[in-house]
Amino acid sequence: MNIDISGKRVLVTASTEGIGKGVAEAFLREGCNVIISSRSEEKVRKALTELKKISPSVWGFTADLTDDKSLESLVSKSFEIMHGIDILIVNSGNPPREPSYFFENSMEDWEYSIKLYLISAIKLVNLVYEYMKNQRWGRIFFLSSWTVKEPQRIFSLADISRASLIQMAKLLSKELGEFNITVNVILMGSFETEGAKKSLRKFAEKIGEPIDVVWKREVLSQIPLGRTGRIKEDLGSLLIFLSSDYGSYITGTTILIDGGMTRSI
Ligand SMILES: NC(=O)c1ccc[n+]([C@@H]2O[C@H](COP(=O)([O-])OP(=O)(O)OC[C@H]3O[C@@H](n4cnc5c(N)ncnc54)[C@H](OP(=O)(O)O)[C@@H]3O)[C@@H](O)[C@H]2O)c1
Repeated sequence: MNIDISGKRVLVTASTEGIGKGVAEAFLREGCNVIISSRSEEKVRKALTELKKISPSVWGFTADLTDDKSLESLVSKSFEIMHGIDILIVNSGNPPREPSYFFENSMEDWEYSIKLYLISAIKLVNLVYEYMKNQRWGRIFFLSSWTVKEPQRIFSLADISRASLIQMAKLLSKELGEFNITVNVILMGSFETEGAKKSLRKFAEKIGEPIDVVWKREVLSQIPLGRTGRIKEDLGSLLIFLSSDYGSYITGTTILIDGGMTRSI
């Protein structure tokens, strides 16, 4: 199979660290033009310095997923620079309160989380779909988690807030299919990132156990393939395949990439 997505214009949100940054790198390596973003100017600068070593076709801006105006500005700058967006990858960060049980969350935590995961995705789709529709081509991905399928008590905020992205992808596949735009949700298993480590450390402290014990019991031993996911190689390859012509018949669906971690079928 000869996959060629070179020249595609990609916007990845929450992409100065961890999963988003790895995904941005994977698309850059395929010869795409890529825009990265996150809230911190310093993180944007640092990520850009690293990514520019791979390809000069990467640009970065500050943008907060919980702020509509900030997303409008991000998309408008992306259009200015790349003259269009072919592939939208909606990745997010984590609510500061997490890991937290349902009744530990304040109403402010819920509002933040719903803005972070759901409202941002609705806003971003609204900002790009006309363009994709006019050019009759587009790919939209919502990066989510296996825990949406098997909710975890400590991820109450994220699991509840992003569960409806699955419905949204299905609905959008019906709205946008005739324009050759596919919309899918990716449920990610465990990938070793700073965010994941921080979350696990907080959880280990919360239950008063050493982090390595919690890591083995809660994460590693739960994965039949016996390892965590590799962002560029495992997740990146999946997204690149789905973005290519080979992935053009896959839409409105939810794909698990978790090394077998999810127990349900
Ligand atoms: N790692 C895993 O194993 C795993 C598994 C399943 C799902 N996920 C999900 O994947 C997403 C990324 O996880 P990660 O492990 O890569 O996290 P991470 O290492 O903490 O990276 C998070 C990125 O998101 C940005 N960000 C955070 N809040 C933001 C906001 N309000 N607006 C814009 N950007 C924001 C951060 O930059 P700034 O601080 O500069 O904003 C950073 O670039 C999360 O939603 C997580 O729940 C992760």
